[in-house]
Amino acid sequence: MYVRWLRLSTGLILATYIILHLLNLALGLLSIGAMEGFRKAVTEIWYHPVGGILLYFSFLTHFLLALWSLYRRSNLRLKAWEAMQLTLGLLILPLAASHIIGIRLRAELFHVEVTYPQVVAKYWLEPWLGWKQVILVLVIWLHMTIGLHYWLRLKAWYPKALPVLYLAAALLPVLALLGLARTGLTIAPELASPEWVARLFAPYMPQQEAVLKPIEHWSLAVMAGMLLATLAAREIRRAVRNRYGSFRMSLESGRRVIAPVGLTMLEAIRAAGIPHASVCGGSGRCTTCRVRVNAGLDALPLPNDTERRALSRIEAPRNVRLACQTRPRRDLAVMPLLPPSASAQVARRLGAVQGHEQTVTVMFLDLRGSTALGERMLPYDAVFVLNRFFAEMSAALKETNGHYAQFNGDGLMALYGLERGVEAGCRDALAGAAAMFRRLAALNESLEAEMGQALQMGIGIHTGEAIVGTMGPPDAPTLTAVGDTVNVAARLESETKTFGCRIVVSETTAAGSGYDFARFPRHTAELRGRTEPLPVFAVDDADALTMQPA
Ligand code: HEM
Ligand code: FES
Repeated sequence: MYVRWLRLSTGLILATYIILHLLNLALGLLSIGAMEGFRKAVTEIWYHPVGGILLYFSFLTHFLLALWSLYRRSNLRLKAWEAMQLTLGLLILPLAASHIIGIRLRAELFHVEVTYPQVVAKYWLEPWLGWKQVILVLVIWLHMTIGLHYWLRLKAWYPKALPVLYLAAALLPVLALLGLARTGLTIAPELASPEWVARLFAPYMPQQEAVLKPIEHWSLAVMAGMLLATLAAREIRRAVRNRYGSFRMSLESGRRVIAPVGLTMLEAIRAAGIPHASVCGGSGRCTTCRVRVNAGLDALPLPNDTERRALSRIEAPRNVRLACQTRPRRDLAVMPLLPPSASAQVARRLGAVQGHEQTVTVMFLDLRGSTALGERMLPYDAVFVLNRFFAEMSAALKETNGHYAQFNGDGLMALYGLERGVEAGCRDALAGAAAMFRRLAALNESLEAEMGQALQMGIGIHTGEAIVGTMGPPDAPTLTAVGDTVNVAARLESETKTFGCRIVVSETTAAGSGYDFARFPRHTAELRGRTEPLPVFAVDDADALTMQPA
């Protein structure tokens, strides 16, 4: 917990530093004067005692944490992005050493103010230094954007902000490098004059180089030594651990994993090449790696702080643990609770751990005459048409906050109001039905033109208590609902034929939405298995459902 917080806060301080630095370089596109003006302003922050200490502390701590992270990982089977972040992170300081020492340390030790024209002139005179700097900018930027992306990805607002952030992330380094290039081109003609160059570098005394060069070499050697020491320490730890034996973990799918004690469940599962959800990369924040422990629960070590906090956030029962945080010592049997492809959004939904009761709006959609469709068309065409149909329906679900819960060949079941509350759920479901019919009409236009076919469907909507949870076969569980409310919604869908309309909405949903349903015919539906008839509204004009509150 503490380590993660420290890594993130030092990362954010470094990110602030880097963003300001790149903005500064980008100003080179305007003029050297603008660049120097901004540099002087930014210097106020980072050469201030507080700013300076924060910056040094962040660099050092962040680097040490990178080594710690390398040491802690029991195996180096990382996801591509984790491996890239770690490698790029470890490259930053060695690549930046000469830059930091040549500028900052020179300023600190000899009170020399290093300017952009001096630095850029150096790159022009020694191009390999310039190229190293270009690589450094890209390495830092990639490392930082991966870090920020995987941190922010878990926030609910992030998907919406993504286009703007992508644009900024792509533009800033490009503008910075262009600024650097333009500054170089501006001073290039002057570089032909030895007097100009001598004047520019007048503050750089040979005795400064005599002090700084050895420091640079030593710092590189120390960093390489620390890296090697970390790798050696990992090997020693592994050898010691192997002496402590191994544990055997049976997975619900029937696979069995044997791993040395000391590995987390997630590391053990990954080492065996089995995919497992881990959106946050194993830092105990996303909870997508959660498993239910079916055997061996009592022999497991108690959850650490990070795990305890995450589990209480999702109200997990005692037998649910985070695979990325738990290091088993004895044999056990577990069942992964989310599919390997689970996203952070799925993990946030309540009920993704176990069933719980919730008032939801359930929608059933049925495609009419799909059997006839199969008879009238070539199988290939029928599959093509059905796929287009379901693509349209799931797009409508998405745009109206619906959750796709089940698919049964010629229809689907959707849930509304899982996160947004009952009233919003009722309204979203009505908007969803309208959107579906709108999309169906557009699809039918092209289907009629292409193959002389049009599709018809009916929708039933009802709101009430249901048991919501992750259910289904172990390798493809989905978040769905069961209970009387679900059965009623399914029956209402078939009532569309009785009432000769497209949509049947229960009075409960109509009332829950707060909309005025007086304009629609009201009926009472006699449903199989129910003693009481259910008041419903028969809706034929789906667009009339997108209305204002009464
Ligand atoms: C100079 C600018 C740098 C910036 C802006 C930066 C930014 C970040 C950010 C935002 C994170 C994500 C934090 C989190 O998810 O908790 C991160 C993680 C990381 N950084 Fe940096 N960083 C910088 C330099 C470095 C350096 C110099 C190193 C190492 C030598 C490094 C190594 C790492 C590692 C290894 C991680 C992730 C480790 C893990 O996931 O286990 N970073 N960085
Ligand atoms: S992988 Fe995110 S909490 Fe375990």
